[in-house]
Amino acid sequence: MKANIVLLPGDGIGPEVVGAARDVLARVAALWGHTFTFSSCLIGGCAIDATGKPLPEDTLAACRESDAVLLGAVGGPKWDDPRAPVRPEQGLLGIRKALGLYANLRPVRIFPQLAAASPLRPEIVAGVDLLVVRELTGGLYFGDRQEETGGRAFDTMVYTAAEVERVVRLAARFARLRRGRLTSVDKANVLASSRLWRRVAMEVVARDFPDVTLEHILVDAAAMFLIRRPAQFDVIVTENMFGDILTDEASMIAGSLGMLPSASLGDRGPGLFEPIHGSAPDIAGRGVANPLATILSAALLLRYSLALNVEAEAVESAVAAALDRGLRTGDIASPGCEPVGTRAMTAQVLDLLAPAPTAARAAGVAS
Ligand code: IPM
Ligand code: MG
Repeated sequence: MKANIVLLPGDGIGPEVVGAARDVLARVAALWGHTFTFSSCLIGGCAIDATGKPLPEDTLAACRESDAVLLGAVGGPKWDDPRAPVRPEQGLLGIRKALGLYANLRPVRIFPQLAAASPLRPEIVAGVDLLVVRELTGGLYFGDRQEETGGRAFDTMVYTAAEVERVVRLAARFARLRRGRLTSVDKANVLASSRLWRRVAMEVVARDFPDVTLEHILVDAAAMFLIRRPAQFDVIVTENMFGDILTDEASMIAGSLGMLPSASLGDRGPGLFEPIHGSAPDIAGRGVANPLATILSAALLLRYSLALNVEAEAVESAVAAALDRGLRTGDIASPGCEPVGTRAMTAQVLDLLAPAPTAARAAGVAS
């Protein structure tokens, strides 16, 4: 197939990890006979430096015309002045909103090879396979706000029933394809927007997903249960900021922020794929960043935007095989283990990337 993929490397370690994932996508194209065309555009702090804007018009136009977008990370100390009117993060929020990407899928999967990298005990993380569906274009991130005036500032959490319904629907469809359990996380004992969220979730699931089991958990309890019994979750659906916080927490189940990919999807148009980690300015440019979250995001791109499931699984298997070979970047290395850099980890994944053997070859039958 032919696909036009826009790369948005962004800031900090973004260019390093996007470069790694691009190499993996290019290898997929070569191995399976696809034609992927890559173009690179500015977003975030580097875009502010070059154009004064965190999301230049030509970046957005290129993304709109693409089949899928792969993003690294935005932000860094250079642009962190709290009084600055223009911030790198506005580019990220702007593109999510402009492309209508209301659902952010953050799968948390445990590679058994990394059990030792999690600060949680192995018996707690064993068998974890959960999917957080984070609402991405509403809530506190996009409600009315007022910057500080005279010692007062505010942000507002606004949701409409339609916004809740579409993301709950998408999450319920995933629950149906998985283990049939959906956990809606809210703060309905305090927030009006959460009471709306809970009511709509109950109605949608009761009406259209009778085969899905829905439970409601308050966000503070959900934070606790993610540590106490993470393996019992299947699909979690929650509003924007709760999802932001809970997925950083959930990344520790998997061992590192450097392992968690994400897919942002809307009802139409290109998806946006990005690691959940940030720009990690402390290690930027040193070639030591873990590229796996971005490589796994590229696998999600293959699966959700290009419907190339076999290729997506091959990338995920290559990542698992690289871990099997003992390769570890610094964030997932256990004490005493010599960490490898971004390039070495990527080279290993490329090396292990191969079309699945046909049944005949696997059985050792000469063709
Ligand atoms: C994320 C990030 C972003 C967010 C920041 C960089 C604006 O933390 O994608 O999780 O809060 O959505
Ligand atoms: Mg975050």
